[in-house]
Amino acid sequence: MDGTHAPAPMRGRSQPARAEIAQHPRLTVLEHPLLATQVTLLRDIRTPAPEFTRAIEEVTRFLLWAALADTATAPMPVPGHSGTPVPGHRLAERVAALAILRAGLGMLEPIRNLLPSAPLYQIGVRRDEATLQPSVYYTNLPESYAEIDHLLLLDPMLATGGSLRAALEIVREGYHGRVSALGIIGAPLGVQTMLDADPEVRIFLAALDDHLNDRGFIIPGLGDAGDRIFGTL
Ligand code: PRP
Repeated sequence: MDGTHAPAPMRGRSQPARAEIAQHPRLTVLEHPLLATQVTLLRDIRTPAPEFTRAIEEVTRFLLWAALADTATAPMPVPGHSGTPVPGHRLAERVAALAILRAGLGMLEPIRNLLPSAPLYQIGVRRDEATLQPSVYYTNLPESYAEIDHLLLLDPMLATGGSLRAALEIVREGYHGRVSALGIIGAPLGVQTMLDADPEVRIFLAALDDHLNDRGFIIPGLGDAGDRIFGTL
């Protein structure tokens, strides 16, 4: 679709100011020099798909460490190098992840590596280009959430917030525990939409950008994360 005839579903819609949203206590925007280099790679339109995906994984790893920083641990002694048990720890909370298809799939590798026993669920949500409304086309969710203490929602892009809100609304039909949304880049409107939609959800981002353009793309953003991860530009 060329720019001349592109739909402009955001035209005339008001958006919250970045500075105001940035102060919200349930939003964490991570800062670190190395993180900045990875986000720069992601924003660079020249970055090829394999390197783009690797940077998504690096940033997700950092988001994961932040989102789980206050997770309870329990003692777990292990055999040490000298032959005697040494003190160790395991997570005392059960963590699961829910990837929003497609782009959320690119964030799974750090979860697999750091939380090898965490169940990984998926939900397919597609944003209509003309209306920006989400439609759910696939769900692979647990029958019971009884075994989950903390659910991580994975989607690199939080634009209007419609897709993530649709996913969370479905999750909340059966789950009332802790939820953290991990995203690479968010727009103020998307963050506000999620915070308003759920009084408990916490949001972790690598960057809070300025606004959405007329077509609902995050500015400056990084383009379409799903297309860049899967090379379908
Ligand atoms: C993109 C992105 C988010 C959503 C963000 O997915 O990965 O899921 O749009 O937009 P929103 O916050 O305004 O809902 P897209 O619908 O392009 O699907 P894809 O991941 O399959 O590319």
